[in-house]
Amino acid sequence: MLKVLLLGATSAIAEATARRYAAQGARLHLVARDSERLSTMARDLEVRGATSVTTAVCDFASPFDAAALLDSANTALEGLDVALLAHGVLPDQTRCEQDLAALRAAFEVNTLSTTSLLTALANVMQAQGRGCIAVIGSVAGDRGRQSNYVYGASKAALEVFLSGLRNRLCKHGVQVLTIKPGFVDTPMTAAFKKGPLWTTPATIADGIIAAIENKRDVVYLPWFWRAIMMIIRAIPEKIFKRMNL
Ligand SMILES: NC(=O)c1ccc[n+]([C@@H]2O[C@H](COP(=O)([O-])OP(=O)(O)OC[C@H]3O[C@@H](n4cnc5c(N)ncnc54)[C@H](OP(=O)(O)O)[C@@H]3O)[C@@H](O)[C@H]2O)c1
Repeated sequence: MLKVLLLGATSAIAEATARRYAAQGARLHLVARDSERLSTMARDLEVRGATSVTTAVCDFASPFDAAALLDSANTALEGLDVALLAHGVLPDQTRCEQDLAALRAAFEVNTLSTTSLLTALANVMQAQGRGCIAVIGSVAGDRGRQSNYVYGASKAALEVFLSGLRNRLCKHGVQVLTIKPGFVDTPMTAAFKKGPLWTTPATIADGIIAAIENKRDVVYLPWFWRAIMMIIRAIPEKIFKRMNL
């Protein structure tokens, strides 16, 4: 029976992933900031087949004790097979260009809270000598664009951190998976006009489960974003800086 920790569990992508694990009869521990939504989600996942669902409330924008959070998750689940880090914010780029507090808040949630959690998680996984750490980054981290480089940079920092962590933990039997979704229709992107490149949280969840099972290191979801980002990265900076992106 799989033991799965979901950090940022109320995210649409995390919830879709949790439903798949519940259907497999997994034990789940959910961490998010909204206690009411956590209780509703826990009841729903039990109905969907989870063997047990425990919860913890944490706001990742405020200082928190990552080691204690991980310790209680480990105790609740009696070991960790998979940890999915899903929380994130999409800041208003224009506001971040004027308001340093908004800029810092984006990095606090997307980068600092995540790397704190990863540091605590890495020590637990290294000690047990197995497990998977899966983290939702973004294609936006592949290249900075004027329309969202604060968000992109917060995810790019995470990607480099994960690359180093993977290099450290692979010799201890721990998988470190970087997940890079493209456009996904979730509350985070509710205000955006949708088009043919958009996908659903359910499709991303299927991709996450497959990537964990197949011991992948880095996945673009859906797969075609790998090709799109390869082209975007290949554009010379001399041309890229003049583009309206
Ligand atoms: N949607 C996309 O197009 C897209 C593309 C690439 C990557 N991603 C990444 O995918 C991940 C999941 O996002 P989503 O698309 O599923 O959107 P979502 O449903 O809006 O999920 C975002 C989650 O982050 C949580 N969160 C935000 N600030 C928090 C804080 N201070 N403390 C604790 N939790 C906090 C939110 O909690 P509340 O529910 O309480 O607000 C929510 O559960 C994010 O890391 C996002 O950057 C999304």
